[in-house]
Amino acid sequence: MSTPESERRVVPLIEEAALAARMDGLAAEIAAVMPAEFTLVALLKGAFVFAADLTRALGRAGCHPRVEFMQLSSYGSGTVSSGVVQLHGPAPEGLAGRPVLLVDDIADSGRSLSFARRQILDGGASEVRVCALLDKPSRRVVPVPVDFVGFTVEDVFVVGYGIDYAEHYRQLPFVGVVE
Ligand code: IMP
Ligand code: MG
Repeated sequence: MSTPESERRVVPLIEEAALAARMDGLAAEIAAVMPAEFTLVALLKGAFVFAADLTRALGRAGCHPRVEFMQLSSYGSGTVSSGVVQLHGPAPEGLAGRPVLLVDDIADSGRSLSFARRQILDGGASEVRVCALLDKPSRRVVPVPVDFVGFTVEDVFVVGYGIDYAEHYRQLPFVGVVE
């Protein structure tokens, strides 16, 4: 198969093996803190690959999470956030009285996680803990507690492992930087 003109070379930043190796450690950290029963709420679309791997790692760590999704968007088609977070479709149901693990791909400005956390608390969740595969602390505009972090990264635009640039590169098995 040929590479589409729209997809340029991506230089790996976090290799596939490093991502896989981190999953069980992250799941162990979560399992040690979360109650036995909780709902994992993954933010679409960016967290779908991470959430799938994390869910299986949580299973290996002895957790039995319910899984829900919530679709937000803060980016248009470029690399600069619009700054406006929108909810697409329904908010997750059945959260009343339940502890929630909110899962996203990247904690950047913090707007998306802060917005989602508010929605989940408004839905009656008993507590919300936040897990991000990648944390870019230098980019934070809205403070949000990120309880579990896969990797801390510099202020660089990344793609792969579910993370896109204008809907491209989600299929890459590693996290990298577009050349
Ligand atoms: P925030 O609301 O500014 O924290 O942005 C969080 C969302 O922006 C993430 O869930 C990503 O979908 C997207 N985002 C932030 N940084 C990047 C990046 O480096 N590459 C691709 N998407 C990003
Ligand atoms: Mg996202």
